[in-house]
Parts: sequence; structure tokens; C-alpha cells
Amino acid sequence: MSECRLPLAAMSKDDEIAFESALFMRAAAVETRLRQVLDGHPLAGEISRPERLMAAMRHGVLNGGKRLRPFLVMESAALFSADGDAALRVAAALECVHCYSLIHDDLPAMDDDDLRRGQPTVHKAFDEATAILAGDALLTLAFDIIADEATGLPAEHRAALVLALARAAGAGGMVGGQMLDLDAERRRPDEAGIIRLQAMKTGALIRFACEAGAIVAGAPPADRERLAEFGSAIGLAFQLADDLLDLTADAKQMGKATNKDAAAGKATLAALHGPDWAREQLHGLIDQAQALLEPYGEQADMLNAAAKFVATRNS
Ligand code: IPE
Ligand code: IPE
Ligand code: MG
Ligand code: MG
Ligand code: MG
Repeated sequence: MSECRLPLAAMSKDDEIAFESALFMRAAAVETRLRQVLDGHPLAGEISRPERLMAAMRHGVLNGGKRLRPFLVMESAALFSADGDAALRVAAALECVHCYSLIHDDLPAMDDDDLRRGQPTVHKAFDEATAILAGDALLTLAFDIIADEATGLPAEHRAALVLALARAAGAGGMVGGQMLDLDAERRRPDEAGIIRLQAMKTGALIRFACEAGAIVAGAPPADRERLAEFGSAIGLAFQLADDLLDLTADAKQMGKATNKDAAAGKATLAALHGPDWAREQLHGLIDQAQALLEPYGEQADMLNAAAKFVATRNS
């Protein structure tokens, strides 16, 4: 396990290749599943699926993306030898919530962005009202996917997933974090305030991603909590890296506009303390995350590699 406590730069080329090919394969599997759930045919109990709405939803979902959250769901499930297909459905559901959050985040009333994943944002490709509705429908679809018997899990596990995702995505999680993020443009939060805001707007869904695998597997509560804590640590690292990239990367590299945070007067830890401090913090957070996975030994190699990826990503 000591290998995992080495600095980030020590990720070997072989480990990097193994991680990237695993991420690619998981992304392809989730993409196929997302295509299926965004099919135009109404499900039992539905009346019809308007084509323009479905097209906007597909635009917001099937447009690349790193698919990191689905990867975390599937790898955390694999850690406990959970059913792969159930994990894939939960992964697809979570990506629907993530994509909805991006569609709404890009709206003129929020970050007012024209570019996402290298393509026009949904309100640019369609219109604002359609983008709002596409987001609404993706959020609802996520809970449909998990609750459906086709997920193949006992009803109590499906209910536990629905509850955990609702708590992560709602007023006390991602949406609440977006509210605090907008407030932060007017009232600068202190450092503890920024950390809480980020734990909510970004951390909560990443925490859920890691915890979900343990729920899918019906793992003991202590394992579920350990994975959730791992998710919180890498979630914080993820937003810190996003803020660092906003400061240091360009739009071509990121597939979205950069230098937005400072322009909006948004307080981020990376802007407050500078890029060197942010990189140092990232090392500490990854170290902390990886220490949590020590009990699982080599079984957790992929999750450990994901933690490094989160901190060192350049897009
Ligand atoms: C971007 O998330 C939004 C944040 C929470 C910072 P990602 O960087 O995971 O975006 P995609 O899914 O790869 O496009
Ligand atoms: C977005 O944070 C977080 C959510 C969508 C919940 P940002 O506004 O920093 O994300 P980007 O930089 O637009 O991807
Ligand atoms: Mg935003
Ligand atoms: Mg944004
Ligand atoms: Mg950002």
C-alpha cells in the first residue's frame, strides 16, 4: 500500500495506461446504456416522449464527457464484487443527474456559457426553455432508472440508492451548493464557507458515486461510510482541480470557457491561495483519500488511480 502514498508524479506509465483504458471502457459501456435510456419510445405509464425534448436531452448527455462519476460507481461496486449491470444502471442514472446540473449551470441565468464539452451548450443548440425542461427530465429520469425493477436489485437497495441520490442532488447537496455558489459572487465566503460550498456543489455527487457501489453490493455500513469518505476527499480535490484549471488552462483544452471564476468575482481556493498552494493541497487530499482505501489492498488499485487522475487531470 505504501506505493499509493507516493506523490502524484509517481504514477507509473503502466498504471496510467491501465487507468485510461479502464476509464475508456467504462465510458463506452455507460454511453451505450445512456443511449438506451434516452430512446424515444415511451415507457409503461408514459404517454409520449416529445422528439425535441429527447433531442435536447441527448445533446446534453451524449456529447463526450469524462464519465468520471459512472467510473467511480462501477469501480466502487467492483470492489465489493457487486452485480455489474445494476452498477451500470446506477452509473447511467448518476450521469443523467450530472448532465442536468451542467445544462442548468450553463444557462444565462447562471454561468451563461456557450461551450460545453467542446460543443454548443443545450440552450445555444436549442433554446433556454428547452434546456430547462431537458434538465428537469434528466433529473427525473435518473430516479426512474434506479427505481425500475430492471435494475435487478432488492427493493430496499433501490430505495436506499434513491434516498442517497436525492440527498446528494437536492437542496442539502448539489442544488444547495449551486445556490451558495451564486451567493458567493455577492458575499465572499471565508475559507470554511468555500469548502462547504464545494463539498455541496461538486463533492456531494462524487461522494454518492463512491458510496453507491457499496449500496449496490449491499456492503456493510462501515464500508459504505469509508467509500463515502473517499468520495468526499476526491470530490473536494475535483473542484479544486476544476478551479485551478479555470485559472491556468484554455478553452480549447477544457472544451468549455475558462477564466470565468475571477471574471465573475467568484472566490475559489485556487484563486485565494494561488496555483502552487492548490497543487500542494491536491497532493494532501489524494493522500488522505488513498489512506482510506488501505484496508482493500490491491483490489482498490483502480479507485486509487482515479484519485490521482482527479488531481492531475488537464481537461
Ligand atoms: C464539470 O464536471 C463540472 C464540475 C463539477 C466541476 P466534469 O469535469 O466531470 O465534466 P465532464 O462530465 O467531464 O464534462
Ligand atoms: C459546476 O461548477 C458544478 C455543477 C454543475 C453542479 P462550475 O460552474 O465550476 O462547473 P464548470 O466549470 O462550468 O464545468
Ligand atoms: Mg457554476
Ligand atoms: Mg459553470
Ligand atoms: Mg468551473
